[in-house]
Amino acid sequence: MRRYRQKYYDLFSHFYDWVIKLHSKDNRLFLRHYLAKRSGVKSEDKVLDLCTGTGSLAIVLTEYAPKGLVVGLDFSLGMLKKAKEKARQRGLKNLVFVAADAGALPFKSDIFAVVTCSHAMYELNGETRRQALQEIKRCLKPGGRFCMMEHEEPKQFFIRLLYHIRLLSMGKEGRQIVRQELKELKGIFCHVFKEVTASGKTKLICGEKAG
Ligand SMILES: C[S@@+](CC[C@H](N)C(=O)[O-])C[C@H]1O[C@@H](n2cnc3c(N)ncnc32)[C@H](O)[C@@H]1O
Repeated sequence: MRRYRQKYYDLFSHFYDWVIKLHSKDNRLFLRHYLAKRSGVKSEDKVLDLCTGTGSLAIVLTEYAPKGLVVGLDFSLGMLKKAKEKARQRGLKNLVFVAADAGALPFKSDIFAVVTCSHAMYELNGETRRQALQEIKRCLKPGGRFCMMEHEEPKQFFIRLLYHIRLLSMGKEGRQIVRQELKELKGIFCHVFKEVTASGKTKLICGEKAG
């Protein structure tokens, strides 16, 4: 199953940025800065962008941590290839990419000041998601912050229908996080808060590792 999902993302990597551009009309860049600012990342921080895809958020994060290091992690080599190309074109020195599974992070404990995950937490199946959340906590420094961004439940009928079809495809376990995400995150992190952007379309949920 995991192999098929990787293959799916490898294939999707060829169109991903194009689809996002078409779908969000540049709004996604605004959202990436919004997430970076709310994550509280500082100039010298080490930051992990989990399920980085083509690295768009990781690239934005490098602006906020110019003297630190941003690590973009993904299990799709296709996505990472695109991400590396984009980083190389921009000559970024404080950005590296790592191929790994979100459920088993290849890092020491207590090293990242911030971990981000944009539009990907809902893509993880129940077991991987649980492991990923524990791994995020392990790798965060005490007092470090985790921020995830996802679509808020759409109001328009047709889009709402598509949203629920996507949730159905996640299975019972996968849908659980959508219904109980705050409860689930509060069981792992402290100072958990959720906010919805002015458009009402996107939500941000952040929590901290107890210091
Ligand atoms: C919808 S994309 C989001 C990409 C990026 N975060 C963004 O905001 O554009 C989901 C990403 O999660 C990655 N992914 C899914 N399951 C994963 C796993 N178990 N471990 C690591 N990456 C995973 C996929 O390869 C894909 O790049």
